[in-house]
Amino acid sequence: MMRVSSYRDTLEQLARSESVPQSHLAALIAMPTREVLEYAAGLAREVAEQHFGHKVYLRGLLEVSNVCAAGCYYCGLRAENRALGRYTLTTEEILESCEEGYGLGLRSFVLQGGQRADYREPIAKVAREFKSRLSDAALTLSLGEQSGECYEEWRKAGADRYLLRHESANEWHYGRLHPESMSYQNRLGCLKRLSELGYQCGAGFMVGTPEQTALHLAEELEFLAQLRPQMVGIGPFIPHSSTPFGQMPQGSVEQTLLMISLVRLVLPKALIPSTTALATASGNGTQQGVLAGANVVMPNVTPKRYRAGYEIYNGKKSFGTEAVEGLEHLAELLGRVGYEASLERGDHPDFVVK
Ligand code: 5AD
Repeated sequence: MMRVSSYRDTLEQLARSESVPQSHLAALIAMPTREVLEYAAGLAREVAEQHFGHKVYLRGLLEVSNVCAAGCYYCGLRAENRALGRYTLTTEEILESCEEGYGLGLRSFVLQGGQRADYREPIAKVAREFKSRLSDAALTLSLGEQSGECYEEWRKAGADRYLLRHESANEWHYGRLHPESMSYQNRLGCLKRLSELGYQCGAGFMVGTPEQTALHLAEELEFLAQLRPQMVGIGPFIPHSSTPFGQMPQGSVEQTLLMISLVRLVLPKALIPSTTALATASGNGTQQGVLAGANVVMPNVTPKRYRAGYEIYNGKKSFGTEAVEGLEHLAELLGRVGYEASLERGDHPDFVVK
């Protein structure tokens, strides 16, 4: 008779890059018990420590505009949400916010915003100016799907990294989360193009989106093992009342933590943020994420008057330890669980920076 493999065997196999049947992973993911969560987190922390010690890299997150042409069913910024007041920061507001964060010691910034077709020139200008003013800081963009030419122009203008979550590794499930005008194939094409252009790339997915199964989450691991992005963003799905998914239940914090740990085992050197969504869903989510194997936190540096406008899900945290004004407190919270908030650029260990 075949031995039923224990959760420890399964997790250790994953950590050794051995192939693990998806059904075994799905069984763990479906019902993450305390033992499984703790064992996976312990292994994940060990792996992270080998490459990063106890450092957690800080990135200043700037939400440059909530104008979006896309219609993702889960997101409050979707074009069809007419109840949302829209804003766009000026070039000078963007640069000043980054300079303010730089003054506090931050050396890595993420400009995130809705997907818009008229952003090519404005962002190229911001990137050039950013690099001339803050030449030793890393610039990450997260502005959705764009043309290859646009990505190329932004890269030449100085952008170092790009975050574009794939949202679901399963093509059918991707289709359940997005309108017909969007496609899984185009998404993957964008990620491929970004990587060819020399960006450090971030992929990622939500946990607990409608119709997502444990098997889908197990598929994420195989997908990521093949794609090998430098960064992976993972957070629980949180409903937004003005979207088609407004009445759907929130994703599980435990399942999110387990996925962070499993992704850490699959991609030991990845930069994995402990996300705002996790912090919104759980009071001490930031620390829990780090203890599960995450090694990045992204405090909000958006001017305060705009923050409420970037409501991708209801109740999104954007003040206190989620923001730049709470930097000291964030460092203290990380310190209490044995981690050190790092102000370094925090590139992927395999990336040679010019
Ligand atoms: N709940 C959680 N995460 C969300 N995102 C968008 N909408 C939601 C939501 N309702 C995530 C998506 C997107 C990232 C910027 O935020 O994964 O890529």
